[in-house]
Amino acid sequence: MSLRLGDTAPNFSADTTTGPITFHDWIGTDWAFFFSHPADFTPVCTTEMGRTAQLAEEFAARGVKPIGLSTDTVAEHVKWIEDVNDTQNTTLRFPIVADADLKIAKLYDMIHPTESETAAVRSVYIIDPGKKIRLTMTYPMSVGRNFDEILRVIDALQTGDTFKIATPADWVPGQKVIIPPSVTDADATKAFPQGFETIRPYLRTVKL
Ligand code: BEZ
Repeated sequence: MSLRLGDTAPNFSADTTTGPITFHDWIGTDWAFFFSHPADFTPVCTTEMGRTAQLAEEFAARGVKPIGLSTDTVAEHVKWIEDVNDTQNTTLRFPIVADADLKIAKLYDMIHPTESETAAVRSVYIIDPGKKIRLTMTYPMSVGRNFDEILRVIDALQTGDTFKIATPADWVPGQKVIIPPSVTDADATKAFPQGFETIRPYLRTVKL
């Protein structure tokens, strides 16, 4: 059964490149960006790991911990990280889970047999400090993820949590947000004393 938004992210214990972890304890009071990749020593994965490492400060600024996974061993991950650092000009410090027996990949529905019976597709789980799954994305093996989009959706989720708003298409921080239809005009006036624009009764925008 696949995992759905709002589900508690399944807990697990595993070996990683930074030592053994129990997932929920490792997340602690932060957010997690849990992402799988098909295999170590492959080209697209090497660029994705490098990009995640390069964005370490961006993730930290949002209180988000990245953690990777593939169905390889810790020894393979550790050797590969040397290549990632060399080729992507970075220093990878976040953990990569070793899942050679596919236990966690199966738990998180990361094995899609038409892509591979033994390797994970490119799954993304954004998990909040309450351990709830807040966003999922699944990319095929042949398509590298857009890490600007990953940071953008984290910004949208966190801004939505703080201000109880929604975000329009292609929103990026600094742009107007949407007041959900469930909020009355009277409540919106209290919540947004700076004023808001009513384009249609169901489409109200506000600058935060
Ligand atoms: C890659 O990372 O380049 C890759 C891995 C598995 C299948 C296809 C591409």
